[in-house]
This record gives sequence, structure tokens and C-alpha cells, in this order.
Amino acid sequence: MMTPSEIVRQLDQDVVGQSEAKKILAVAVYTHFRKSARALAESVELVKSNVLLIGSTGTGKTLLCETLSRILGAPFVTADATTLAQTEFVNNEIEAILQRLLDKAGGDVARAQRGLVFIDEVDKLKAVSDQSRATSGESVQHALLKIMEGSQVRLRGGEYIDTTHILFICGGAFVGIEEILKNSQSYGYLSFSDADNQTILNRLSARVKPTDLLAFGLVPEFAGRLPVIARLQDLSKEMMVRIMIEPKESIYRQYREMLKTDGVELIIKPVVFEQIADIAMEYKVGARSLRGIFEELMTDVLYAIPDNPSIRRVVIENLFEPPRLLAETPAKAPAAPKE
Ligand SMILES: Nc1ncnc2c1ncn2[C@@H]1O[C@H](COP(=O)(O)OP(=O)(O)O)[C@@H](O)[C@H]1O
Ligand SMILES: [Mg+2]
Repeated sequence: MMTPSEIVRQLDQDVVGQSEAKKILAVAVYTHFRKSARALAESVELVKSNVLLIGSTGTGKTLLCETLSRILGAPFVTADATTLAQTEFVNNEIEAILQRLLDKAGGDVARAQRGLVFIDEVDKLKAVSDQSRATSGESVQHALLKIMEGSQVRLRGGEYIDTTHILFICGGAFVGIEEILKNSQSYGYLSFSDADNQTILNRLSARVKPTDLLAFGLVPEFAGRLPVIARLQDLSKEMMVRIMIEPKESIYRQYREMLKTDGVELIIKPVVFEQIADIAMEYKVGARSLRGIFEELMTDVLYAIPDNPSIRRVVIENLFEPPRLLAETPAKAPAAPKE
């Protein structure tokens, strides 16, 4: 079992920034798998701490969970809480999620039972007196609660999946939680006398508590099942730039690799990434818009290359100027003539 810091180091290779969330997630996963190993070995009761990730769309919630599951070598599935609320038969839908987990585990029940399930958009399950949905958000919360606590679910094929040791990670944007936090700060009894206290105070105040989730509209039992809460930051322009370049599988690396197979070197100047990040910031969907903008930029290049086998280099100096397609690498600058 990897230590939390090792998990974070691994996450760093794929996920840019979000260090607070990485740390909380790493500790939660580490604790969870140790507790469940002990529970299995000594048949003691497992007290589960499922995790809630709060962050705007496109800030890396799904990517974090995906990467985490890959690092741990655990089967992983994602599901959408809004989809659950749209179906009349929530339990069938939940059964289908666990079936997918079992498939991911290659049919190995024991492996599936130690997998990860990410349920996105749980903030959309808040209690409202809106009956347009097939199932009320509240009853979906209750259905999820049961599997999050740990229960035996019978799948269509007749197998039973015990969810006790499955780690559930919930996600959501929780728009409006800031306002709730502002009103719920109740740490006035700490002394303000030194900078240290202020730091602790700031950290505690930024922390979302289960009671804040109640105020948001989650039912107490459900909120109570999500004691570990991590928040992801909105992406800055600098983070967007890094996302295009740094990760192991960054978009830039992917395109460079792709062109390399045609014997073409792709060079994109730093200012171009800034220009793309500027546009992406406007879209307000986090890093989600980067790929689309990038693909548009590359269309002309990918269109031209197959017809021009002599192209050896593609240089993009500005997002708003056509890419330069160069036939060969420049000859070395001629040596200065000797006097
Ligand atoms: N912090 C990040 N580091 C690297 N890539 C990111 C990050 N945040 C988002 N992305 C990229 O943006 C896209 C959307 O991210 P995703 O994890 O699905 O967002 P969310 O689940 O928070 O809505 C993915 O292609 C992902 O690779
Ligand atoms: Mg997502």
C-alpha cells in the first residue's frame, strides 16, 4: 500500500494543482484501504468515510478519481446523480452501476468489492418541491446512502456485491455553498492573537462542514455519510497553460507524439498557450474547453501534412496566424567567415 505522499506524487503527474484536494483524497484512500484490510482480516466493523469533492465543472474531479483508481489498480466507475433522479427505478440503476464495476473488475467479485465508485452531481439531489423529476432527489439520496453505508446488492446475473469496502466518492459544484459558509463560520472563540491562529482559523472557515451541506439541501443521513470533504480550486489562466503542457498525457504531448509518427516536429510557442488559456477562461467550463480550441488550431495542420510529405516541422507562433509548415530543419547557421 502506497503512503499518502506517494499517492500525491503519482497524482501530480496527471493532475495539475489542486494540492489540498489531492492531500485529503490521498489520506482518505489510504485510511479507507487500511481500515478495510483490517476489517477483513480481524472481522471488526468498518466505519466508512466516503469522500465528497466540491469543485466547479472542469476542475479535475473526474480526472482525480480516474487517476487515483489507476494508481491503486482498483476498478473504477462513474455515475451521474442526475441520471439516477431521472429514472423511475433507482435501484435498477444502482444495480447497473455495480454491474459495470464488476465488469471493470473482469468479473472478479472480490476485486469489484474493493473498487471505487464516483457519483457526480450529488448537489443536484438537493431537496426541492419540484416534482418534474421521476424520482425526488431526496429518495435518490436515501438509495445512495444504503450502498454507501454498505449493503448486499443482488445483480441481474445472480451475484451479490457487498458494498462495505467499496470507496464512494461523490462530486458536485455546490453553487452557492460560499454564501452558506460565510454565514456558518463559528470559530469566534479562537484567539486572534497570532498569525498561526489566523492561519488555522482561515483553514477552518474555508472548510465545508456536514451542517453546511444540510443548509444546502442534502438530507442529514446523506451529508453525515460524507465526512471527508475536499474542495477543488477554480482554474487560473496559469493552471490552464500548465494543463496543456505538463501532464504525462497533456494535449501538447499527444499532438507532438502524433505528428512525430509522420516524421514531423511540432513546436508551439508559449504565447499560443496563453492565448488558448485566455479563450478557455471565457468559456467558464474549466479545462474542459481546452481540447476543443486546441483541435481547431490543429485542423489546418492535420489537413495539410498528408499531402506534403516533405514537411518536417510545424511552428505555431501565434493563435491568430496560420501555422508555418517547414520542409526541413534549418541548416546550421554558417560559421562566421574568418578574417
Ligand atoms: N487540474 C487538472 N489537471 C489536468 N487536467 C485537468 C485538470 N482539471 C481538468 N482537467 C482536464 O479537463 C477535462 C475535464 O476535467 P474533469 O476531471 O472531467 O472535470 P470535472 O469532473 O471536475 O468536471 C479533462 O480532460 C481533464 O483532463
Ligand atoms: Mg466530472
